[in-house]
Amino acid sequence: PRTYLVTGALSGIGAATTALLRRQGHTVLAADLEGGDIAADLSAPEGRAALVARARELSGGRLDAVVACAGVAHFDPVTVRINHFGAVATLEGLRPLLAAGSDPRALVVGSVDAVHPTDPAIVAAADADDETEAVAAARAAVDRGEGHLVYSSSKAAVSRWVRRAAPGDAWAGAGIALNAVAPGVVLTPLTKPLLDDPATLALVERAVPMPLHGHSRPEQLAPLVAWLTSPENALVTGQVVFADGGADAVLRGDRV
Ligand code: NAI
Repeated sequence: PRTYLVTGALSGIGAATTALLRRQGHTVLAADLEGGDIAADLSAPEGRAALVARARELSGGRLDAVVACAGVAHFDPVTVRINHFGAVATLEGLRPLLAAGSDPRALVVGSVDAVHPTDPAIVAAADADDETEAVAAARAAVDRGEGHLVYSSSKAAVSRWVRRAAPGDAWAGAGIALNAVAPGVVLTPLTKPLLDDPATLALVERAVPMPLHGHSRPEQLAPLVAWLTSPENALVTGQVVFADGGADAVLRGDRV
């Protein structure tokens, strides 16, 4: 059995992943805003530091895999704080614990939204690891009525970070596979308000076409997350794996 840490573990994709890993006999440290094994707010530096400190305590200093699942989709700068900076801080902060683990693997849940239009200023600031500037750019996007760009930009940024970081000495060099999974539309509390309103449902269906099986359930993502973070995954790293019922292929099928 392995020891995993999952953020956003009490709802949606994180909860389904935690349940599957536990059924497989692994130990999972469940982190979330409140409750679970580790309560930490990943929107701010103090919460990110608390997550790492508590994880070190509970794990005895070694983890075999980390799944950064916590995320929000608000038309607000907090979305880039949590989805990009919170996820990167989770993975970077826990990297020393992974380096002490066996067959270590790391994963972040991105989104097919990363291929939608983004705000270059948010993405550039995130690329530069400048949270103040990224939040200012997100605020500006919200103020000019383009709040939806904050989510796509946060997911594009974290996916770019995975692709840049994974081959480096800190990750591949330390034997740690690092990937993103990009879901399409998943039926969770995050999307429920959008899908319950016929007006936004129509927008979502146009933006994220899912010809294979339609909207997905969190339980359908969990096996992929579990495999990518298992010892069986010896070769896949630096990838954004689209698990989106064909949405990416519809939206940009010419790109390989
Ligand atoms: P969810 O809302 O069911 O779960 C998200 C979890 O993150 C919750 O347990 C929540 O408490 C936690 N969280 C939120 N803010 C936090 C903070 N500041 N600190 C710590 N934890 C926090 O959502 P879902 O759908 O399971 O989303 C999981 C991930 O999947 C997110 O990163 C989301 O962006 C991504 N995703 C979801 C899709 C969907 O259609 N539901 C599609 C593509 C990506």
